[in-house]
Amino acid sequence: MKVLLTGGAGYIGSHTAVELLNAGYEIVIIDDFSNSNENVLNAIKKITNKDFEFYKFDYKDREKLEKVFEENKIDAVINFAGFKAVGESVQKPLEYYYNNVTGAIILLQTMKKYGVKRFIFSSSATVYGNPEKVPITEESKTGGTTNPYGTSKLQIEQILTDLYKSDNTWNICILRYFNPVGAHSSGLIGEEPQGIPNNLMPYIVRVASGELEILSVFGNDYDTPDGTGVRDYIHVVDLSIGHMKALQKLDRSGLYIYNLGTGKGYSVLDIVRNFEEATGQKVKYKIAPRRDGDIATCYADPSKAKAELGWEAKRDLKDMCRDSWNYIQKKKES
Ligand code: UD1
Repeated sequence: MKVLLTGGAGYIGSHTAVELLNAGYEIVIIDDFSNSNENVLNAIKKITNKDFEFYKFDYKDREKLEKVFEENKIDAVINFAGFKAVGESVQKPLEYYYNNVTGAIILLQTMKKYGVKRFIFSSSATVYGNPEKVPITEESKTGGTTNPYGTSKLQIEQILTDLYKSDNTWNICILRYFNPVGAHSSGLIGEEPQGIPNNLMPYIVRVASGELEILSVFGNDYDTPDGTGVRDYIHVVDLSIGHMKALQKLDRSGLYIYNLGTGKGYSVLDIVRNFEEATGQKVKYKIAPRRDGDIATCYADPSKAKAELGWEAKRDLKDMCRDSWNYIQKKKES
């Protein structure tokens, strides 16, 4: 089976590329390196000892996209080419809606034109807004997103739902990621946020390495065991394996939605403590005011993915911390 990965050189795309190649899938990657770089492609080849087709262009370029479908017999598409910085999405809503929503439409139209109907979409737990209760199941209410990034995910989910209603021969899988962290155990691929990171783990790693001075813990007065925000952190390799399991599910038409999380919630201070224990590095932190738009607690009920995909997260928090740290160390050495 030949799988097209748009944004396949990015953080989650590159890890999924590795898992697919290792499992014997053929892949084609499209990426414009707007949030990644060429070295990632070599790293994927080095880890897997396998080769693949690569096209460098913006996935919204319909002509070039059509050429990819003409040159390759694509069986399924996984769309990783979304912009994902929450703060930036508030500053640049048009860019976000254009890239994420219009891009998805162009991709789906092209798939339709070439008769390719298996599609996996990277969605996010952000579509649940501020959840009424945890753990969050796939039936939990969606909506109440507070930024264009989150709203773009919700809009694409709606488009996919309508598309399936119009033609039930599509095989669509929506994966709602919780908080992906960690890196491949080789240390050759990982997360590379540009500028100062917004997300917790990349920030912690840079404080531990001395690149940033101190972590601000955004609020310690939430209704959680230690007052800091609780999230469901999932190792990016587990998440990538989830995509492969979803691909296997797509041999039957349908519209499927799965939470990909561990089902465990950890606070900001739990993460700091586990990071220190796993790496032996000190993480300096201070308590700071709450961050706008943050919620107290968010973690998945991942039982549907286990029952229907036979998938569950295997890597624990120490693995996530150690692999995040290992990646940065390896990068410094190279
Ligand atoms: C964020 C996004 C979410 C997106 C997800 C991708 C926001 C409001 N939400 O989720 O839409 O899908 O990333 O992974 O940005 N924290 C600190 N100090 C920091 C950074 C974070 O205390 O410097 C805390 C946060 O308050 C939160 C937890 O760490 O309690 C996790 O934050 P983060 O990694 O940014 O993820 P989310 O906010 O869950």
